[in-house]
Amino acid sequence: MEENVKKIISGCDFSGVKPAMMDLPYPPLQVREKNQLYAELLSISYCGMVSEMSAIMQYINNENRMFCERCPMGKTILGMAMGEMMHMQKLGELIHLLGGSVCYVTKQSGGRQWMWSPQCLTLPEKVGEMLQADLESEQAAISQYNMHIRMIKDDYVNAVLERIIQDEQYHIMLLRSMLDSM
Ligand SMILES: [Fe+2]
Ligand SMILES: [Fe+2]
Repeated sequence: MEENVKKIISGCDFSGVKPAMMDLPYPPLQVREKNQLYAELLSISYCGMVSEMSAIMQYINNENRMFCERCPMGKTILGMAMGEMMHMQKLGELIHLLGGSVCYVTKQSGGRQWMWSPQCLTLPEKVGEMLQADLESEQAAISQYNMHIRMIKDDYVNAVLERIIQDEQYHIMLLRSMLDSM
């Protein structure tokens, strides 16, 4: 009876997928003092155009569209999405400690409020182009973190951002090796 029931199944087993992060400890989440400006800068990496929010959504979209044909690659991409979620959680906690509000709104120059949208994502059809877009997003994230590190004079906050950058560099290495394997 069972074999007569038609179904379409995923042959990809995602059990055991872990966040793709460097095997190094994270600095404690702490700040020197409350600082609204620093909270607003971190909000940009939390849910701005170039942000952990964008990275999570882009990777999940990639994974959803590739896992049937490319299960191992789908698992690596899911692991990276999980790593970005860990980054988002850490940024959110720092924003809260700095006295900012953890919401999905960022302030642009001039004080205008801006809300995240899927327009932040680059979602090409072909897998090679997806990976290339992901690589460019990781590079943009690292540049943004470095720019914020130069603006933020709180060594506790910057230690966390520098540790996040190490994970983003690891993601670039994973993306490059996936591109090379195609
Ligand atoms: Fe990240
Ligand atoms: Fe990343």
